[in-house]
Amino acid sequence: MSNGQAIYQKLLDTAKQAAENSYSPYSRFPVGAALLSEDGRVFTGCNVENASYSAGVCAERTAVLKAVSEGCRRFKAIAVACLKNADGWPCGICRQFMSEFGVDLEVVVEGSSGKVQVMKLSELLPRHFGPDSL
Ligand code: THU
Repeated sequence: MSNGQAIYQKLLDTAKQAAENSYSPYSRFPVGAALLSEDGRVFTGCNVENASYSAGVCAERTAVLKAVSEGCRRFKAIAVACLKNADGWPCGICRQFMSEFGVDLEVVVEGSSGKVQVMKLSELLPRHFGPDSL
């Protein structure tokens, strides 16, 4: 395993751990995220649902909100772990939300084959609407 892959695997393990804190009594679909910043810090997140369903927040946005509210805006990679679907990629709202801080972000998921899958956010959200679009 190359060093890069070891980092992705570690980030995925952290995302899986974060999913243990998921509050998802309605969907019963726990998701965790681990966001690696350029300075090496890792911010975790989980999905937090609500009785008013649309008020729920995804794991990825929880992680980004935690990072930005701690003064961190530059990111390298985010691992996402859907405990019930290894091949679960970020939803459209999360792709848009993350793109605000750069589309070079690497998105890491476990993949159904068990082989770590990595895609750039720019591939997952081409021609995104960002700060330069205004
Ligand atoms: N969910 C995430 O946390 N991230 C995604 O990218 C997709 C969906 C959550 C939202 C909801 O709590 C549950 O998964 C089922 O949609």
